Parts: sequence; structure tokens; C-alpha cells
Amino acid sequence: MSRKKPEDLRSHRWLGVADMRSFGHRSRLRQIGYDADDWQDKPVIGIINTWSEINPCHAHLRVRAENVKRGVLQAGGFPIELPAMSLSETFVKPSTMMYRNMLAMETEELLRSHPLDGAVLMGGCDKTTPGLVMGAISMGLPAIYIPAGPMLRGNWKGNFLGSGSDVWKYWTEKRAGNITDEDWNEIEGGIARSFGTCMVMGTAATMMAITEALGLALPGASSIPAADSNHPRMCGTAGRRIVDMVWEDLTPNKILTTAAFDNAIKVHMAMGGSTNAIIHVVAMARRAGIPVDMERFDQLSREIPVLANVRPSGKYLMEDFFYAGGLRALMMGMKEKLDLSCMTVTGETIGQNIEGAEINIPDVIHTLADPIYAEGATAVLKGNLAPNGCVIKPAAADKRFLKHRGKAIAFEDYNHMMREIERDDLDVTPDHILVLKNAGPKGGPGMPEWGMLPIPKRLLGQGVRDMIRISDGRMSGTSYGACILHVAPESFIGGPLAFVQTGDEIEIDVDKRSIHLHVSDAELARRKAAWKQPPPRYTRGYGAMFSEHIGQADQGCDFDFLEGTAATADPEIH
Ligand code: FES
Repeated sequence: MSRKKPEDLRSHRWLGVADMRSFGHRSRLRQIGYDADDWQDKPVIGIINTWSEINPCHAHLRVRAENVKRGVLQAGGFPIELPAMSLSETFVKPSTMMYRNMLAMETEELLRSHPLDGAVLMGGCDKTTPGLVMGAISMGLPAIYIPAGPMLRGNWKGNFLGSGSDVWKYWTEKRAGNITDEDWNEIEGGIARSFGTCMVMGTAATMMAITEALGLALPGASSIPAADSNHPRMCGTAGRRIVDMVWEDLTPNKILTTAAFDNAIKVHMAMGGSTNAIIHVVAMARRAGIPVDMERFDQLSREIPVLANVRPSGKYLMEDFFYAGGLRALMMGMKEKLDLSCMTVTGETIGQNIEGAEINIPDVIHTLADPIYAEGATAVLKGNLAPNGCVIKPAAADKRFLKHRGKAIAFEDYNHMMREIERDDLDVTPDHILVLKNAGPKGGPGMPEWGMLPIPKRLLGQGVRDMIRISDGRMSGTSYGACILHVAPESFIGGPLAFVQTGDEIEIDVDKRSIHLHVSDAELARRKAAWKQPPPRYTRGYGAMFSEHIGQADQGCDFDFLEGTAATADPEIH
């Protein structure tokens, strides 16, 4: 493999030449306290860190950045930490999805505008992973991703608690009067015991695993709990490795092939991963110029069963998954389904990276011969209600709803739904289908995670815990139930979901991958003619730009002007 020379480094244009501008760059580095020994002939590594004081999932990344720097210095690089938008899933409103593309833009432009040769991407809370990766793909510098890692298991009275999943579960029990305020308060204090991401197979764990499966993280990195001492050691290794990646010019386009994306989607299916991953993987692939669409997810979902017995589809938590052998073990267990020749950030192939991996706890990581669920994590349905597709997670739904016909109860927006759902006199049975409109990319805006609509209060008392819910929004990866999501095109722009009325019949057949609104074409055309598009949610600022440029769910929800692989010029240094 040919290696770069110091004068080939991108940073050389800022720091290595003898002109007035580079004098300014060097004198200002000296102002910070660095000297020529720090930078001369060394790759400059940008550590894009999404730490913030209000992101509990990334609370440790401030310290972990120091572990990365230690590794970069050991390998002869010059580390520079650059903060980026933290996107705390818990606190950022109206939805972190609204800001994923902003982080992607920030990552790309941080890398482009500074004298950097390589990038370390530090994130993990849901949208941070795709945001960082999308930006890094578009910039094209050698990059390695450091997953924040899951938090430790939650605990309440000796019961393990899972992020999100057990919030929904116990909130439902509280609404049904089955647990007390005191219980609820104790759960609040016990569910999040350490820094790190949600520790069920939510969007964070799914995206961290997918990014490792793509070849962009060190082998096994995505499974390490944030509080485990393996985590800072992994950070140091990543710091050392990125320096060599720069000398080797191992850029993302040498890693991200069609086969690499297929591996990632297969791992998503085997992990029982979050529905959100579909949107993010499509967006990442489009940035890399690889044609991946929802159909590909559906094809692979029929081929790859769920193997990870992790909530919300399964029983255990990510800490158990790590003890069971982690992602390397899962990939070893399905290796005949993977393309083992794909290149990774290690400079070696997926096959080489998983060599020697073993499943330590067979009930946590199952094998192809003994899966948790016969098909993969997500299924894509199409029909007159969702011409461009929608998504369901069959393994997390009550099986009786996988083939169902029922009457709709339609809600015009989130507030309408929340008012109705608590009514004691709501005319609803468990066979009804709840429909939520205006929760899509433009309508939400930002596709909020409203897709697991609450079970109507009237049914809770009868013990009902699942029913079919349809929306153009998303649901948290920690959620569960017969929720049909990402309906495209969305209702806000006049997709057929906009025209559903209470009392209409809807038919679902997951096996046939179909969703049908039993309303005649003539009646739908009449409703469409009478429909008025709601006004834009924002008229200024980022929101206005978002509303104008955001794509639909089946296209990955990227901004139209960010997609694709057209070259963007490096800045002139003058
Ligand atoms: Fe950060 Fe769930 S809130 S990963």
C-alpha cells in the first residue's frame, strides 16, 4: 500500500509552506502554546466531539476525547478537538431528526474549513451517528467513528429496566392504575444508572452497530458499554489508528461499497434494529453514491432472521449483548450471509476483524439455525395508503395484527390525538386502527417519534396493550407494538394519509407487504380536491430552510442540496 508523504497532507497547505498566510497559521498555533514539534510533518486529526452538558448519553465523551488524543499523539499525529451540535435525543425539540442534517452539514464544513487530514467522529445518541457519518462521507477525509456505547442496565427492585421500553410499559401501567406514584418515582431514579446511550436495541444501539458493520468503527467497538474500561482503551486505539489511516489514505469511499451497505442492513435485521435506521442508512448510502432503497431492506428482511435477543423485540439489554460476545460474535454467527471481503477502518476486512469471535451466551445471541424471529427486524409495506412505502417492525408487534382489517379513527395532528385518546367515551375497540396525520418530515416537522400512539384510555382498563397505529411519523427505537410508520408521501404534502376519515376501512397484510385503504379512487379524488395544504411550519431561519429542502422518508430525509457525490472544492488558502 502506498503511503502519503508529509507534503501530501492536506494540512501542509496551511502549515507546511513558507508564505505569509502559513506564518499566520503557525504563529497562532504558537499563541495557543503549540510548537513546531507538535505539527511539523504530522497528520492533523480533527476530533469531532458531540459532547455537551445536557447530553447524558455523551457525558463521558469530554474525557474520552483525551483518550483519543493520547492515541493520536502516540502514533505521531496532531489532535485538534472540535465541538459539534450534541443532539440529545431527550432534550432537543421538536425532534432531533430536525437537526440531523444540520449536524451533517456542521461535520462536513468543520472538516472542510480547518487544516485537517483525518477525522475521529464521536457520537452515539440517535441522530448523532448518521449526522456525523453523512458529513464525513461527503467530505471524504479518512474517518473513524467512535460509538459512545450503551449505558448500564437500569434497575428497579431487582428488575432490569430498559431505556424507553420500560418507560412506555410502566407509564401504560400507571395510566391503567396498576402502579403507584411512588413506584413511578423510583423507576425514574433507577432507569438510567450511568452515562452512555439507551441500552435497548433502540436507534442508538442500532446505528452504532450498523456503522461498525459498514466498516467505519473498530471491531467490537459498538457493543462496549460506555462505563466499561474497554471503552477508553478502544478510544486510544482509534486515535492511533486514524493517524495510519491518513498515511494510507483510507477514505470512506474505499470502505463504503454496495456490499458494505448490504452487510449493514443484514446486521440491522439480525439485531432486531430500530425502524429509524432505514431512513438513516438510505441517507448515508445516497451520500456515498450507493443506490440503497426501502425495497433492499425488505428483500434482506426476508433473508435474515432476528438473532439478538435484546429489547424491545427480545429479552435482554445491550450490556448482556456485550457479555455474550457483542457484534463480532453476532456477525460470526451469520458470517455465511455477509460479504467478508469488505474493507474496514482497520485496513483489514470484515472477515479478518471477526476472526476468533465466539458467542458466549447463546440465549442472548442466537444463530441462523435457531433465530429469535424467522424474518428480519423491519418490513416495508406498500399500497394506495402508502404509494412510496411505510414500515413496520413485525417482531415487536402482537402477531394477530400482522394480517388485519379494521375501521380507522383519524386524528388530524398530535394535539387532536392527545385530546381524544384520554376520552372515556371514545368509540374505540381493540380492532380499530388509529391514524395520526401531520407527523412527517415537513408536517411534524422533523418526523417526531409520535408513531407509537398511546392506547386509548378506554381500552387500557380492558387490558389492551397493542393495536394498529398508522402515521407518517417515526417511533423511538425503544418502542414496540403494531405501529406502521414513515408513510410516504406524508399527509402534510397531500399524501393519501391526509384523506383518511374516521370510519374508513384499512387492511394490512404484512406477509404480502400490503396496506390498503378501502375507499374508492373517485371518493379519494373528491377528498383530495377539497383538501387544503396547511401553511408552512416555519417562515424564517433554519426551520424555513428545513421545510423547503427536506426529502421524504423513503428518500432518507436528506436536504436535496446535500445529496450525491459531486465534488465540493477545498477552500483556497489565502
Ligand atoms: Fe440518547 Fe436514547 S436518549 S440514545
